[in-house]
Amino acid sequence: MPETTLQDANAIADQLVAWRRHLHAHPEISGQEEQTARYIADELERMGYETERRIGDTHGLTANLRVNDRPALALRADFDALPIQEENEVEYASRNAGAMHACGHDAHTAMLLGAAAILKEKKDQLRRSVRFVFQPCEEAYPGGAAPMIAGGVLNNVDAIFGIHISSQLQPGELGTRAGAIMSAVNDFGITIHGKGGHAAMPEQCADPIVAAAHVIVALQTITSRSISITDSAVVSVTRINAGTADNVLPESVALRGTIRNLDETVRKHVCKRVKEIAETTALALGTRAEVEIEPGYPVVINDAKAVEQAFAAARLVGFDERKLLPIPPIGGGEDFAYYLQKVPGAFVFLGAGNTDKQCHYPHHHPRFNIDEDMLPWGTALHVQYALSRGA
Ligand code: NI
Repeated sequence: MPETTLQDANAIADQLVAWRRHLHAHPEISGQEEQTARYIADELERMGYETERRIGDTHGLTANLRVNDRPALALRADFDALPIQEENEVEYASRNAGAMHACGHDAHTAMLLGAAAILKEKKDQLRRSVRFVFQPCEEAYPGGAAPMIAGGVLNNVDAIFGIHISSQLQPGELGTRAGAIMSAVNDFGITIHGKGGHAAMPEQCADPIVAAAHVIVALQTITSRSISITDSAVVSVTRINAGTADNVLPESVALRGTIRNLDETVRKHVCKRVKEIAETTALALGTRAEVEIEPGYPVVINDAKAVEQAFAAARLVGFDERKLLPIPPIGGGEDFAYYLQKVPGAFVFLGAGNTDKQCHYPHHHPRFNIDEDMLPWGTALHVQYALSRGA
């Protein structure tokens, strides 16, 4: 009887852990992943792959497993770390001050290296070529996906698959959904210009603090008063900066915040309303608002058929049917969205949380860690997704 992909992945579990721990100990933040990229390329070349490096003028790289001329399946992992000081006391803790793999991209890369190793041995079972895409800079807009696509990473590719680990799910659990799975992101800045002066003589000033307070409250009417029951949006004001003394009205107030959406039409509407409401509310109170809506990642939209294929592959790997979870969309953003704008595919979440092993902190937390027992599950899923692909 042929071995299952999970057995294949379990057979290299020690190697998966070794890759993940090396990457974890040597994190590099977005845009600075030079050593990480070299490490990945060296490991791929050690397996016998040729690598193409610095795609689209990024640290991104690919390796191809070519079986015929038909369009390939791309399997993607990201490999950048976050500007966080790690607080875990483990032997493989970050050795780079102020940088940490606190989102699990070290695990993503280890799982995909594992898939590259296993698929190399199973090349004769593949009906389509596979391109392994190792992407930098996911955590920092404009991201690594867009320049890699511009650099040709999706040339002769007609499908893509990606895994993100989740501390909210347990090992052996897989969550995803057809349609919008992660949200569009737009950060914004609003500066309200007034006329400062003595706080005891407000009639001689144009108070930007009171205007800012009205703007903040009015912004909350976007979601409560102008979004349909079937749509969703989040508008959060996250920072307020103004003032220097108790008896001085300042010249201006600076607000910052973020907008999240699951639909491009709603996104445009919300961005437009943030600008209109801030400008007109400020004006009504004798002040003037300058609004800057920053561009951000679009909605991550999974293809329905690709999601079915992911669940089907997971069943073949040996995932328990009860652990294949149709999860609701997630408020975070991801530049995987750009690949899915070009080719159909699926982005799935794999459980890596385990309270017993202190692996329950949220992503981007200085104590974030994963249950490494999940690594073979992710490797096997990549392998099975590629093997299951039709002719
Ligand atoms: Ni991430």
